[in-house]
Amino acid sequence: MINPIASANQSATSTRMKKTFIILCILLCIISYILYSRQTVNWTFLPTIISSSLSVSQISNNSLSNKIITKTAKPNRIKKPLLPPSQNRRFAIFGCSIHASIHAYTFYTPITALSWNRVGYEAIVVFVGDFKKPNVLTKRLNLSRNYLKSVGAHIVDFQCNESYSIKLSQVVRVFAGFLPDDIVEDEDNILTGDSDLMPLRISEYTPTSGTDGFVFNAHCCGTFQRRGKNYKMYPMGHIFLQKKTWRAMVMESQQRAELLAKADNRTQELLSADAPLSFETITLYGRLEFKDVYDQRMDKGDAAWYMDQILCSMLIHDYKQKHQNFSLSERGRGERLDRVYGMGYWDRPNYNQFGDAHLKHDEILEAGNWKIFTKLLKSLFNDTMVTLFNDYYKQYMVVGKLP
Ligand SMILES: *[C@@H]1O[C@H](CO)[C@@H](O)[C@H](O)[C@H]1NC(C)=O
Ligand SMILES: *[C@@H]1O[C@H](CO)[C@@H](O)[C@H](O)[C@H]1NC(C)=O
Ligand SMILES: *[C@@H]1O[C@H](CO)[C@@H](O)[C@H](O)[C@H]1NC(C)=O
Ligand SMILES: *[C@@H]1O[C@H](CO)[C@@H](O)[C@H](O)[C@H]1NC(C)=O
Ligand SMILES: *[C@@H]1O[C@H](CO)[C@@H](O)[C@H](O)[C@H]1NC(C)=O
Ligand SMILES: *[C@@H]1O[C@H](CO)[C@@H](O)[C@H](O)[C@H]1NC(C)=O
Repeated sequence: MINPIASANQSATSTRMKKTFIILCILLCIISYILYSRQTVNWTFLPTIISSSLSVSQISNNSLSNKIITKTAKPNRIKKPLLPPSQNRRFAIFGCSIHASIHAYTFYTPITALSWNRVGYEAIVVFVGDFKKPNVLTKRLNLSRNYLKSVGAHIVDFQCNESYSIKLSQVVRVFAGFLPDDIVEDEDNILTGDSDLMPLRISEYTPTSGTDGFVFNAHCCGTFQRRGKNYKMYPMGHIFLQKKTWRAMVMESQQRAELLAKADNRTQELLSADAPLSFETITLYGRLEFKDVYDQRMDKGDAAWYMDQILCSMLIHDYKQKHQNFSLSERGRGERLDRVYGMGYWDRPNYNQFGDAHLKHDEILEAGNWKIFTKLLKSLFNDTMVTLFNDYYKQYMVVGKLP
């Protein structure tokens, strides 16, 4: 499977990378310490630190570490004037369980994150699971997380019991309005995504100006009934709203009013507008709306599987009814390069006909399939990034071999 020369090279590179990474971590700590210990930061003094640290990282000539350094040069955030929603920053959020038996979901995260950058979005990746469990961050997970940092993605760790990790990795997106301000601000836009759903055609993700958001593939899923009302079922795939709208949808909901009516002190805190994104808060809503189903084991396609989009569709519907001037554009979607097609179908001269790609599961880690997949990567990214992802794949296969 693995060429011995390449893998020897790989482990040498991997040792070097580890060393560089440790040195960089220490440097970052020092830089953060210096910055945070100064009340007023003089940002012109930062490049000096960075250029002096670059001399260390260049010894290893490794694109991963160089990229991490460049990230620290991000300028201080300036309060922006109020803009129409479509002109604010855009973020794509997607979650994945750290306990999933399918590796592909976490494997794809850096690639999906950079795909979002390509179409004008920053990526927020939420890792969901029990971080208190010993050795839960495997070498493979660490590798994915390090590459995510190298492509500039935001990482959020969401603590919950292992048995809830898969459903929470989906439901967490509905509560994007409670993400920390240092990642995404109220006026910014947040679009829901999936780690195995890759955006291809830029125009599919461009906001409709003059509206407050959009739902992608909005006419896919018919309607459903709950609480004696008819709701249109929106797919979670991509829903694009401002952060403040995501939060208002929850804050003004009938569900919250019902929870508040019987809330003790602690519950009131969990229901407040500045509550942090947490398992406890989400669980209040989940149990109210879905009763036992919320706590049940979940399999693909069963009642629990669609909790996130049922809840989200209800919240959006009720919010729209309250705010008659709120406008949501409902779109279709382009042709999809789907994982149901054989790998032969993925092997093609160009990908121009497709709007997005629904990525393969773990079979993508087979060398021949990965090679075909790199054709798609080449059509999207420059050589530096294709090389970065090839390195990532090779290291992923090597660290996966060890116990
Ligand atoms: C450093 O990396 C660049 C590409 O990232 C490559 O072109 C160059 O040859 C490398 N230099 C050395 C000394 O390995
Ligand atoms: C993964 O990274 C964490 C810290 O980021 C570290 O504590 C842990 O030992 C790493 N796991 C492995 C298997 O290297
Ligand atoms: C996780 O959830 C399961 C089922 O609800 C429960 O049996 C178990 O005790 C929980 N574990 C922890 C550490 O809370
Ligand atoms: C509720 O919290 C407030 C402060 O946040 C405290 O003063 C009050 O005593 C608490 N009430 C109960 C019943 O715990
Ligand atoms: C809708 O109208 C309310 C006042 O009724 C206003 O506060 C709000 O900003 C408006 N929203 C939009 C999206 O125009
Ligand atoms: C390659 O793409 C990355 C990510 O979009 C970008 O940061 C980098 O500047 C590009 N490199 C070249 C040589 O164009």
